[in-house]
Amino acid sequence: MTYLLFMVLSILKGFIYRMKKIGLGRQAEVFEDNNGLAIKIYNTSVPIENIEYEAEISKKIYDVYNRAPKFYNIWHQNGSYGLQFELIKGEMLSIQMRRHLNCVRRYAREFGKLHREIHANSIKGLKSSIEKYEWGLRQYKKLDESILYRLLEFVKNSHAELLCHGDLHPENIMIDENGYMRVIDWVDAYSGNPLSDVARTYYLLSKGTSPEKKPYYFKLIESIVKRVIAKEYLHSYFSNKVIPKREFDIWKLIIQICRYNEGIQEEKPFLERNISIEIDRMGKNA
Ligand SMILES: Nc1ncnc2c1ncn2[C@@H]1O[C@H](COP(=O)(O)OP(=O)(O)O)[C@@H](O)[C@H]1O
Ligand SMILES: [Mg+2]
Repeated sequence: MTYLLFMVLSILKGFIYRMKKIGLGRQAEVFEDNNGLAIKIYNTSVPIENIEYEAEISKKIYDVYNRAPKFYNIWHQNGSYGLQFELIKGEMLSIQMRRHLNCVRRYAREFGKLHREIHANSIKGLKSSIEKYEWGLRQYKKLDESILYRLLEFVKNSHAELLCHGDLHPENIMIDENGYMRVIDWVDAYSGNPLSDVARTYYLLSKGTSPEKKPYYFKLIESIVKRVIAKEYLHSYFSNKVIPKREFDIWKLIIQICRYNEGIQEEKPFLERNISIEIDRMGKNA
């Protein structure tokens, strides 16, 4: 019933805006306008400051990385706000992976290479990884002072100023009509150490969940496929070089702490258990 109502509302919206709906996000719907642009229209509950922030970040990113969509303007109509982007004609990587299960390893390898390319760009003027992760670590109230201090020192000492997406997963990558991968949804971008960004993507690929309800057997198969994709992505990212295991393990811990703060119920028990195991291990290796 709720779903039906939602569908009706969303068709109605397309009708009101006179645009075709092409995508759905957590806080926005995306339409194609009459000028051939993509308009990301936010729910009215999203504060205008957040929309302005995404506009500002999207401009900066396109200047250094043109696989991001070009940003045009802030859009405003009947009390709703949105952002105008270049329209990427194509499909999300997640859909293509599901459709061509026999090609997932190849997609995962291309994904790893793409992420390496993103990290090849220096960038200033974005939130820094120090700011981002210090905030995230302090939010998690179950860390004792000495561990918190060690993790904060680690974040400071490993700082770099490279472009990080902050939420790179197959729903934020589109394959355009020429078969090129394009990267959307840069609102969590920051300037930092690429290993932190790889650790998040690796987590999302191997353990991240979606809100959809699925039967048990489906979840089982999905978890096997996810592991294959995550492994292939990682090897491709490091292009078969040795993975800096110690640093990567610490970033994985930090990423899991920050993910816990996102409050995704389905992932919380696993995260809590894993965080505590990793912290014990850190204590022993002190
Ligand atoms: N520039 C674009 N061109 C074409 N489709 C887009 C574009 N931006 C977003 N979309 C579509 O809208 C969906 C949601 O957009 P996204 O920016 O990822 O929103 P959210 O921040 O809520 O995740 C995407 O998965 C994609 O299908
Ligand atoms: Mg998205």
